[in-house]
Amino acid sequence: MTLTPVHFFSHGSTMMLGEHCSSTDYWKTCGDEALRNGIKGVILMGAHWDCFGDQIQVSTNPSPAKSPVAYVHPSKYVDYELNPDLQTAERCIDLLAKAGYNVSGNNTFDWIHDVYLILIRMFPKACPPTTIISLNARYDPHYHMKVGSTLRQFRKENYLLIGTGGAVHNLYRNRWGPMLRFRDNFAQDSPPDSWAMEFRQAVEDAFTKNSGPALRRAVTRLMKHPEYRDAHATDDHFMAAMFVAGATGDFEDEGTLATLGAETWELTNMCNSQFTVGSWSGKKPQ
Ligand SMILES: [Fe+2]
Repeated sequence: MTLTPVHFFSHGSTMMLGEHCSSTDYWKTCGDEALRNGIKGVILMGAHWDCFGDQIQVSTNPSPAKSPVAYVHPSKYVDYELNPDLQTAERCIDLLAKAGYNVSGNNTFDWIHDVYLILIRMFPKACPPTTIISLNARYDPHYHMKVGSTLRQFRKENYLLIGTGGAVHNLYRNRWGPMLRFRDNFAQDSPPDSWAMEFRQAVEDAFTKNSGPALRRAVTRLMKHPEYRDAHATDDHFMAAMFVAGATGDFEDEGTLATLGAETWELTNMCNSQFTVGSWSGKKPQ
């Protein structure tokens, strides 16, 4: 028995689906590795689906549509066939309910680009069986960390767990001019602001210099960082980081470090860092 690696991917703007960069290469490399290692499926927490009250949901829609995306030619996504894993969804619901969550299936939810952008980039030929877990709109870091720790056991069954959100992701502080005028999301006619650089470094340090329960503490603590609110005007794109810390922060994970696999700045101030905790070659024996 071995533990699969877990990814925290910053999906950035919708243009990351249409435009090529080192992050999109990295996603493909991670997808290729996962397929080579025969994953059973993907379990994914995104950033664009959240539930009110104390609820959390799991997608049980047998034939989800795709919410359309701006600034991307439809040929890049409309024909990609999604592959919902209803059996694993039921198992996730079961485990989360046993862990005390107010959890249910949602059989009408359509998938959003935070999820299918990553799936298309990682697995362009065919979508593996995939389960999507919602966020809770109270955005409690420990709540989402515990979702990850509850589903961590799937790593022992060769499932790939992914959180897709953002390291520095504040749409209000992005510089949209070059994209709106020239469709250039990578333009950087000035350096990123200092708060973006500071918080990006804090995220890298938290992921790459901690392991086991210390990783959980470091990642949840980032929401108290002085630059956090500048880096994340809303909390939705940072919950997936909590999920990943939960899934990789057990005592068993001590010594399993994360790597920063790629990084792409978009819209001047949005930092799309791509982290992988653990590796296929360095899987720890169980
Ligand atoms: Fe997003």
